[in-house]
Amino acid sequence: MNEIRVFSPATVSNVACGFDVLGFPLDSVGDEMVVRKTKAKGISISKIEGFDLPFDIYKNVASVSAMSLLEVAKPDFGFEIEIYKKIKPGSGIGSSGASASGSVYAINELLGRPFNKLELTEFAMKGEFIASKSEHADNIAPAIFGGFCLVKNLHPLNVLQLPTPTDLYAIILHPQIEIKTSESRKILPKMVPLSDVTKQLSDLGGLVHGLHTGNYNLIKSSLNDHIIEEYRSKLIPHFDIIKSKVLEAGALGCSISGSGPSIFALSKGNDLATEIELVFKSIYSKSNINFSTYISKISSSGVVTI
Ligand code: HSE
Repeated sequence: MNEIRVFSPATVSNVACGFDVLGFPLDSVGDEMVVRKTKAKGISISKIEGFDLPFDIYKNVASVSAMSLLEVAKPDFGFEIEIYKKIKPGSGIGSSGASASGSVYAINELLGRPFNKLELTEFAMKGEFIASKSEHADNIAPAIFGGFCLVKNLHPLNVLQLPTPTDLYAIILHPQIEIKTSESRKILPKMVPLSDVTKQLSDLGGLVHGLHTGNYNLIKSSLNDHIIEEYRSKLIPHFDIIKSKVLEAGALGCSISGSGPSIFALSKGNDLATEIELVFKSIYSKSNINFSTYISKISSSGVVTI
């Protein structure tokens, strides 16, 4: 095989109580990438469509991730990457994570799969780092592994795949404003009250148990963020009213997707997901901010060959 086309999913990271450690991929929103072998060694980017991103291989997340893989694989040929970007950078639904995951997944396939998913996550994290200036894998791991993923440890990397209850739907509101992860990390406190940490820990434990047992009531009572949301939500217009209306409509939970500005909600079933999307639309259509909404199941596969 000399060429491959992949779909690399958008992801929701943090998932309320799981700051930096929990995420899931969407199955209907994501980027496409084509990667092909070249005689020349190394990585090049031959096409970028959708958004204005750097062709400089040291600045583009996809090529930085790919180069970290090639440093270990050392093939005597190279790869050219075409990026068909659908996820807006700075959207909060894992735009850089999708680029980073797509390139390493594709190259691994073209090399005959020498690396496992954990190793691919580590390579992709090198690319994610240049975009976010921080080491976290809660977008990359779900993009590569599929399903809900808990990043149990970074060094050494350990990712736990959690079960996804079948009726779970994600609803996303993406206000078309840009929030850079690196900036939205700077506004977070260095120290937090112990009582908030205790609440966050019990909710994360409750959410993980709820996912394992398919207990939607437990999932619902656990989808809270006691630590991060109050700081970052100030950057997202109408966050508080959106959240209260979406919960009133019956959502299992509602919080910031990644570092924002996207907001996610989870619902049991597609009918409620459609109602929640209408709530998102009715509030944001009264504002002067352009926005998009998506309804998606949780992808069980993550990045795939298409
Ligand atoms: N966990 C990261 C953050 C995800 O919230 O900063 C952003 O990509």
